[in-house]
Amino acid sequence: MPNMSKRIMFYSLVLLLVLSVNAYSSCPTKCSCYLDIKGRRVVLCKDGGLTGPLDLNGFGYDTEIIKITAPDDNTNLLTMSPAFQRYTKLEEIHVTKSNIPQLGMHFFFGLTKLDVLNLSQNNITQPLDHNFRGLDKLKELYLDDNRIQSLPSGTFRYLHELKVLSIQRNRIRELANRIFLEIGKLKVLKLSGNNLRELNPEVFRDVQELRHLECRGCALEKINKEIFSLLPYLSYLDLGDNEIKLIHTDNLKDLINLKVLKLDGNQLTVLHDNIFLNQAALKKINLARNHITKISANAFVELYNLTDIDLSFNKLEKVHEGAFGAVSSSLEMLNLSGNQMKLHTLKELASMENLKELKLSKCEIMDTKIEIYPPNLRVLDLSNNYISLLNTEYFPYSLKELDVSNNRIRGIDENDMKKLDDLKYLNLQKNPWSCDICFIVPLLERANRSATFSELICVSPYTVKGKTLGTIVKSELTWCSAASYSTGDPDFFLVAGDGRMRIIAASMSVCLFLLTILAVIGAVCYSRRHAARYYTHEDKLAMEGENIFENNHSPLFCDRELSFKFPLDANEKRISIATIEEVKKEHSITNGT
Ligand SMILES: *[C@@H]1O[C@H](CO)[C@@H](O)[C@H](O)[C@H]1NC(C)=O
Ligand SMILES: *[C@@H]1O[C@H](CO)[C@@H](O)[C@H](O)[C@H]1NC(C)=O
Ligand SMILES: *[C@@H]1O[C@H](CO)[C@@H](O)[C@H](O)[C@H]1NC(C)=O
Ligand SMILES: *[C@@H]1O[C@H](CO)[C@@H](O)[C@H](O)[C@H]1NC(C)=O
Ligand SMILES: *[C@@H]1O[C@H](CO)[C@@H](O)[C@H](O)[C@H]1NC(C)=O
Repeated sequence: MPNMSKRIMFYSLVLLLVLSVNAYSSCPTKCSCYLDIKGRRVVLCKDGGLTGPLDLNGFGYDTEIIKITAPDDNTNLLTMSPAFQRYTKLEEIHVTKSNIPQLGMHFFFGLTKLDVLNLSQNNITQPLDHNFRGLDKLKELYLDDNRIQSLPSGTFRYLHELKVLSIQRNRIRELANRIFLEIGKLKVLKLSGNNLRELNPEVFRDVQELRHLECRGCALEKINKEIFSLLPYLSYLDLGDNEIKLIHTDNLKDLINLKVLKLDGNQLTVLHDNIFLNQAALKKINLARNHITKISANAFVELYNLTDIDLSFNKLEKVHEGAFGAVSSSLEMLNLSGNQMKLHTLKELASMENLKELKLSKCEIMDTKIEIYPPNLRVLDLSNNYISLLNTEYFPYSLKELDVSNNRIRGIDENDMKKLDDLKYLNLQKNPWSCDICFIVPLLERANRSATFSELICVSPYTVKGKTLGTIVKSELTWCSAASYSTGDPDFFLVAGDGRMRIIAASMSVCLFLLTILAVIGAVCYSRRHAARYYTHEDKLAMEGENIFENNHSPLFCDRELSFKFPLDANEKRISIATIEEVKKEHSITNGT
């Protein structure tokens, strides 16, 4: 009996212990509790559907991070309550997607360890200074995606240690004087997505240690240089997607520590001389999506440390001589995509020793055989152009990544393929691959190497149209695309040659003309085993072929530029088919290169 009671006592003790441990590390229902990588206790409630005053029932007092959020289709409808006050160990509070309309007075009082307060994606209209009382140690405050319309002077004045303030995508139309009063340690300020129209220089007097300023999509019309004289340490400035039309010579002169400048999506038309004077530290400039037509020869002077320029999607037709002269030894990335560049004006690029990445997508390029490639280039983007023959002759040996997707390439010959074999990345997709003996063999032979080749889709001839290279065997290749289309008109000739198979290409007009002559000479030729051979202007052909292709679906030209045909008596003659190389030679001759 005494044994029994001992046992009972023992079990109840164990039970008590288990219970208390449970209470200590209890986790509220519908939430998950875990330790983050720094070993802090996190309570995460993300299922949504919470309503009423914020209730922390069931949250352990030792919780260090609280995250209350919701899925988009089940947002919370919470109001703030003074529930946090006993949670003195809290380091981060995130209450997001909860439709909180306002913050109460002193709700965060006593949270002396709180570093991060994230109230993004709520319905807050106006935070007031007393909301933040007691948060002496707060370092980061996020109020993004609320409905804040105005911020009175001194709103953040109790947040002496604040380093990061983000109030993006609210409805602030004006920065009131002294709005940043007493947050002089602020390093990062994000104001993007507020319709501010201009930045009030006065407010920056209170935050002169700023390193990082963002006001993207703020409807700014000009760069306000008075601001920058107050921000000598600024190293990151993002004024993208505004309405800035001009950078004046002295606009940026005070930003001597600037490393990154983003002015993409503005309305700049010209880059004048000397606009970046004093920017010796600048490493990256983004000027994409402006209307830039001209870069003055001295625009980039004194940018000794510039490595990246993004000039994509502007209206540049050429690069004025010497425009990149000042940065030719430092530049590592140049993005000129989406400009209708005249390629010969890019010859200067060939002298950029350090350029590693060149982007020329959507530039209406037809030819790759041109000496513009920098000697140490590693990444080349030629996608979305009109390239029909991929000539690798001038590609530098350093090249590691090439994108020629969405061009007009029908095949690549073995020599060019060999040069591409060592690339780490090659994108050949969305080209009109012509899966026949004439064009596809070098690619087909590589089809078992990787998806780069095996997943290319044949566009012609129609016997294999839509198939991927990985599903085709060499023996099923037709001679040349047109053979499977044309019905017997000898629009092309095959002639005796050096024993190799050769293709003779001819243009529609020439062909038709020849047909007539053929009929006459045919009989004579047949007996003498003679044949003729025609060359044509490939460039012109490409265009003509395309028009005809689109308009008529002429069986003769179902393959745009080239069409091939065996003579009826092919087996009696030694036939020959031109390889891509020959077509290419032809191509370069007609291009005058
Ligand atoms: C703040 O909350 C939003 C919404 O949940 C989230 O996307 C964002 O990453 C959070 N910010 C920080 C710094 O944790
Ligand atoms: C957000 O607040 C506005 C008024 O400030 C109110 O009209 C609206 O219904 C609120 N939205 C939600 C989802 O609570
Ligand atoms: C520019 O780079 C050089 C070394 O490449 C460095 O010595 C110099 O301090 C840099 N200039 C600035 C202003 O950062
Ligand atoms: C231009 O190229 C750079 C480097 O790849 C890339 O980071 C950037 O996003 C490109 N610009 C645009 C507008 O796509
Ligand atoms: C691909 O096939 C060829 C023969 O067709 C073979 O020699 C080669 O080893 C294969 N490569 C791979 C990666 O399977």
